[in-house]
Amino acid sequence: MKVLAGTSNLKLCKNIARQLRLKLVNSNIRRFADGEVYVEINENIRGNSIFVVQSTSNPANDNLMELLICIDALRRSSAKNITAVIPYFGYARQDRKVVPRTAISAKLVSNLITNSGANRILSVDLHAGQIQGFFDIPVDNLFTTPIFARHIKKSKLNNIICVAPDVGGVERTRALSRRINSNIAIIDKRRPAPGKSEVMNLVGNVKGKNCIIVDDIIDSGGTIVNAAKALKDKGAKDVYVYITHAVLSGSAVGKIEKSHIKKLITTDTIDNSKKIANNKKIEIISLAPMISEAMKRIANSTSVSSLFK
Ligand code: R5P
Repeated sequence: MKVLAGTSNLKLCKNIARQLRLKLVNSNIRRFADGEVYVEINENIRGNSIFVVQSTSNPANDNLMELLICIDALRRSSAKNITAVIPYFGYARQDRKVVPRTAISAKLVSNLITNSGANRILSVDLHAGQIQGFFDIPVDNLFTTPIFARHIKKSKLNNIICVAPDVGGVERTRALSRRINSNIAIIDKRRPAPGKSEVMNLVGNVKGKNCIIVDDIIDSGGTIVNAAKALKDKGAKDVYVYITHAVLSGSAVGKIEKSHIKKLITTDTIDNSKKIANNKKIEIISLAPMISEAMKRIANSTSVSSLFK
């Protein structure tokens, strides 16, 4: 078993390697003057099970291309099998045609990764479970719910209600509420234009309650900031937010700072160390222990799902 780090999230890769007590594969990943990606593997990997770790986060196109070229380099170096570990799987939100004549980018990206030579995918909180079916190779989708539930229990908050920030998040919210034994509320969100969100209705009573909003992605921050305001308007006590993938585009961090959110807890699937350094409202939980444990189980052909029981 060997681990090759892409350049999108070196901090997480090093952390994973440390957990596995492995050295990262010696490689040279750089850009040509025109931006094209160059990958060279500097050690023998013939016959090895290789895990290439790369989130397809911003710059999504560059990071995706780098992942594909890494996989191609590994395949041509006679790796026995290649697992693409994609902690944050970008392009996942276009997983169906919501309006006519649009692409289904999640399917296209799945095809690209498979055709480049990956034998297996390991990801975290895929935007939609059915993306697993876009691949014709095995996909292990890890969940943050147990980690978030543990964090909530440790915080000793009482009078909690879990809130889905939109209808798409109900299943995820229910899974968390079951683990911490709380009720759920649901926000009816509309998107009047791309990147804009509006709260239409709130189903459930949040008055005097500590609200836990849970979502897979925070991008512009609009969904969560509006949701927090709507909950406060309905008499919520405090609003805490648990998000797996902190995309945090544009002015998202500033919006969160000025918002009604008491605390945002997220993970390191995307490297945001520069964006949120010393930010008191945002806490990061590392997923390196969970991801490395899943990688170990894949390498040893033991159960990954039992991680979540
Ligand atoms: C949408 O289906 C996702 O789960 C997130 O709610 C969404 O991507 C968040 O985007 P933003 O932060 O830009 O509102």
